[in-house]
Amino acid sequence: MNNRYELAEIVLTEKELKKRVAELGKQIAEDYKGEPIVAICVLKGAAVFMTDLVRAIDGDVRLDFMAVSSYGASTKSSGVVRILKDLDGPIVGKNLLIVEDIIDSGLTLSYLRENLIARGPKSVRICTLLDKPARRKANITPDYVGFTIPDKFIVGYGLDVAEQFRNLPYIANVIDHGPDVG
Ligand code: IMP
Ligand code: MG
Repeated sequence: MNNRYELAEIVLTEKELKKRVAELGKQIAEDYKGEPIVAICVLKGAAVFMTDLVRAIDGDVRLDFMAVSSYGASTKSSGVVRILKDLDGPIVGKNLLIVEDIIDSGLTLSYLRENLIARGPKSVRICTLLDKPARRKANITPDYVGFTIPDKFIVGYGLDVAEQFRNLPYIANVIDHGPDVG
């Protein structure tokens, strides 16, 4: 009744997500050859992907979490990033795997990557479930990509619009009925 956002068609099914996450985990385990990894989840969007991904990596994987926010609540990233929650532990000499839900302009991740590199890790790689290269502004190339998708706003499997739909086990397009609904 008072719901502004309506789910449209499914873009990625639960089955497709599961299969691809398993492939990514296998690839990552092979590439790191038993070297310990610190997987860094970028909250909140990457939380669902992160928990599935780390269980698909056969190896020494530690978990840490960061929350960042671009200013404003718009669906367009401003490139100005605030750290809302920092890592719990030091990362000097560690192999970092930044786990993201989606790279759009790349501005968020570009900031985050520089911030983490400044702390002296051994290596930094990026694993993103989704890549939307159409609107890229920052020079960011992820090392691992689940799916490359067109420039449409999507939700589910951790991704939200106004905090809604993160718990969907699939990914779908949304219709925005505008602020006057309800
Ligand atoms: P960027 O700085 O433009 O790369 O912004 C990336 C962040 O914007 C992601 O981590 C998401 O939180 C959000 N975002 C970008 N596109 C979408 C989308 O289609 N659905 C939901 N969130 C999105
Ligand atoms: Mg995010």
